[in-house]
Amino acid sequence: MNIPLLAVKNPQEIPRNSLVMEEKSTTQRMKYAADISSIREAHSRISPYIHRTPVMCSESINVIARRRLFFKCECFQKGGAFKFRGACNAILSLDNSQAAKGVVTHSSGNHAAALSLAAKIRGIPAYIVIPRNAPKCKVENVVRYGGKVIWSEATMQSRETTANKVLEETGAVLIHSSNDARIISGQGTISLELLEQASEIDTIIVPISGGGLISGAALAAKSINPAIRVLAAEPRGADDAAKSKASGHIITLPETKTIADGLRAFLGDLTWPIVRDLVDGVIVVDDFEIVEAMKLCLEILKVAVEPSGAIGLAAVLSESFRANPAWSSCKNIGIILSGGNLDLGALLTLTGTDG
Ligand SMILES: Cc1ncc(COP(=O)(O)O)c(C=O)c1O
Repeated sequence: MNIPLLAVKNPQEIPRNSLVMEEKSTTQRMKYAADISSIREAHSRISPYIHRTPVMCSESINVIARRRLFFKCECFQKGGAFKFRGACNAILSLDNSQAAKGVVTHSSGNHAAALSLAAKIRGIPAYIVIPRNAPKCKVENVVRYGGKVIWSEATMQSRETTANKVLEETGAVLIHSSNDARIISGQGTISLELLEQASEIDTIIVPISGGGLISGAALAAKSINPAIRVLAAEPRGADDAAKSKASGHIITLPETKTIADGLRAFLGDLTWPIVRDLVDGVIVVDDFEIVEAMKLCLEILKVAVEPSGAIGLAAVLSESFRANPAWSSCKNIGIILSGGNLDLGALLTLTGTDG
């Protein structure tokens, strides 16, 4: 069945050369879930729909950081976060019969909104299972983009059971927020752009949660420049990636506690091998450092960044990064400001300016 496609390229219309690349990359048996060719394919697939976000620099922040920083402003991406890249790639990769049944995910935040927006562009339904404790502004984004909200309890078990029920009832395609090859390839397009926009970068600092963003970013960056360092930034109250790297296997935590609401998920079987092999270190920061970084973004860059998005700046300013001799040669650092979906009320409370 052919579904109506709203101002969107039918995947069958994607230029022939990208289909040839696709055939090649699947027969070559990738080491990881994605590689540079799947990331380049994703970029040509999603380029007509995404923003090529700007890279901003500030002499004042460079003085504070004692390094040159290059901010990739994914907070200006459609939907307010980098998540639109992966969601768009996943949805545009579906054939018409798969797409007709729609997509489903469980997410408390930016992936939910991004998937709703990408589904709206393709003209298909997006069923979004949202836990009752999700931030209000993120639920509003899902509704704004036409996602069909299905509530679950806050536990992962309730989210998964509810999503499975929707899958059975609708036949929709499940699109996980990070542990999915199409998502990892889509997120990797950030590094393609960043290294074109600022080729002098020797280090990239990336927020980590489920690891889709850093997996794609590391695969692309290290393929373009194997000497580049890729560091993860993680909140202390959800430091499972640091613990996983230290122990050599995936660690999950019984509970997480941080203001960075986008960084509470755990690594999966597709993202873990990439994080294990390609991420050079994890910088763990406290919530107060994240709030300081958000303030700097607002006051100096004039950019509103949510806590999960500001953690890369918090990491580069943290004592644990500055004092670590391993990172003293990191001079030109790309920082992914990964999202800007912030409740103004919550911001005023965090910065202590709510009177
Ligand atoms: C703003 C923001 N930054 C970073 C991340 C982490 O992305 P990933 O789960 O792919 O590691 C998320 C995840 O939701 C996010 O919303």
